[in-house]
Parts: sequence; C-alpha cells; structure tokens
Amino acid sequence: MVKLNGKKKLNVCIFISGRGTNLKSIIDFSKEKESPIKIDLVITNNKNAKGINFAKKNNIKYIYINYKNVDKAEDKIIIILKKHNIDFICLAGFMKILSNKIINIYKNKILNIHPSLLPRYKGLNTHKRVIKNKEKFTGCTVHLVNEKLDSGKIILQKKVRILKKDSEISLSKKVLKIENKIYPKAIKKFVNSNL
Ligand code: GRF
Repeated sequence: MVKLNGKKKLNVCIFISGRGTNLKSIIDFSKEKESPIKIDLVITNNKNAKGINFAKKNNIKYIYINYKNVDKAEDKIIIILKKHNIDFICLAGFMKILSNKIINIYKNKILNIHPSLLPRYKGLNTHKRVIKNKEKFTGCTVHLVNEKLDSGKIILQKKVRILKKDSEISLSKKVLKIENKIYPKAIKKFVNSNL
C-alpha cells in the first residue's frame, strides 16, 4: 500500500529496457499539476534503451545497471532505491525478472504492465499467441508484482478487440496505445487505495 500521508508527491522509480513509451506516458502524467507522483529515477539494464532519451529530455536521473551478475545487480539496485527514498516502482518494459529479494523489500509496491488480459497469456509473445489461438479479444493489464511471473493482484485492465485483419504488429500497436493510457490511470488508482 502506498499513501501520500501528507506528502505532496510520492517518489517513483521506473525500470525500463527498451523503447520507453510507457515511461513517456508516466512522465507526462507526473507533470500534471494534481499528479501524486514525482519520477525521481529511471533504472535500465540496457545502455542503449531508447527510453533513456525521455529521461534525458525531462532531466530525470537515469542509472544503467549491468546485469551480468544478477545478484550484484540487485544489491546495487536496492542500495540506489533506498538512497533515493523510492516509495514505489513501476516496471515499464523491464525485461529482467526481479528476485524475491527486491520483491519482499518493496512488497505491494511494484507495478508492472503486461500486454494481455491477465491471468491469460502470461509471459512473452502475447500478441503472436492470441492471434494464433484466434482469440476475439486481448488487452493489457497493470498489476502488482509478486513472486510468480505476471500473477500479482490486478489493478487495471482494458480489453482490445482483435479484428480478422489484425497481425501481430497491428495488434501490438493497438494494445500499446491503450497501455500508455491505462498506466497513469492505474497509478492514480493504486495511490491511496488499499491495494
Ligand atoms: C509493453 O508492451 C509492455 O506491456 C511490455 O513491454 C512493452 C514495453 O513497451 N511489458 P515500452 O518500452 O513502454 O514502449
């Protein structure tokens, strides 16, 4: 649970590995006057992540973490998060699985966005699989992170219709647009809720 408890803004750290459209949408949200969050930090495991540019443009500090040794990487991350007084974490296209060590320290304080209607289609290549299975709907989900992959409590979910003409690419574009919309909404819902 995260609460403002008199604080003006909650300190958020966003984890990315790539493009960063969800990071961008959360940055835009953080700039709204009534937004309950301040993005204090961006962490990436990929030096070349395009999303880093959104951090740079907005004067948000970003830190690259070398993940060659996962244990050491996570120890570093924990020290950094504590130093920055991070209230909660948003995973936004972060392609590493966090171990229980971090998850337990930030219990119910880590959000993730996943491109499917969880609990269906956990894991990778969701769009490819829904098309292969001739599903009529897919969608995206913002959920809390727990020890099991893509299995934590659902905060917000939105359905997207799959058309006959949809390909993996067209569908991923459609879903991504919705992802970018729901992540800020999910954060709003999460802050000061009893989740
Ligand atoms: C999104 O589809 C998200 O659901 C998944 O990774 C992708 C990240 O996209 N976890 P972006 O880097 O935010 O543009």
